Amino acid sequence: MEQFEFITKTAEETSAIASSLSKKVIASDVITLEGDLGAGKTTFTKGLAKGLGIKRNVNSPTFTIIKEYKDGRLPLYHMDVYRVEDEGEDLGFDEYFHGDGITVVEWAHLINDQLPSERLDIKIYYEDETTRKITMTPYGSHYVEICKELINESISN
Ligand SMILES: Nc1ncnc2c1ncn2[C@@H]1O[C@H](COP(=O)(O)OP(=O)(O)OP(=O)(O)O)[C@@H](O)[C@H]1O
Ligand SMILES: [Mg+2]
Repeated sequence: MEQFEFITKTAEETSAIASSLSKKVIASDVITLEGDLGAGKTTFTKGLAKGLGIKRNVNSPTFTIIKEYKDGRLPLYHMDVYRVEDEGEDLGFDEYFHGDGITVVEWAHLINDQLPSERLDIKIYYEDETTRKITMTPYGSHYVEICKELINESISN
């Protein structure tokens, strides 16, 4: 599996990568986001939202599973499936995955069987207080293209 790696030295850099990504996504795109506590998942999602032009504050959907932000270029569906009790339980995820917006799924491995086969898997690793390693694993040619563009941009920066 092809994998693309980014190192960031500040929260702003992580946010900037997410913002660049936001310019390339299209309706029905699905992004999974995994990482330890404080790795930067929310920072990343906020960057994505900002890049989409979403003005509402984005925070963790802890008590709701899904939060919807519809005031940007594309709707953003932010899911935290940590509290899904039964992994097989169908909460209508497919309507989001194939819908009019982009979906970011935190703790996605908990609903592995329900994820679309084409998607972008992102993992954020805590290296030290301000350094993060972000890996992107694209499944499907659309996501491979996005990753290649992001890498090219980060190299030319
Ligand atoms: N390179 C970096 N990338 C992202 N965040 C960074 C970086 N360096 C420092 N930080 C800080 O790390 C923290 C990341 O917190 P954030 O809430 O985004 O993590 P999280 O993965 O959502 O955590 P949680 O699992 O608690 O929801 C922020 O305080 C941010 O400022
Ligand atoms: Mg968070």
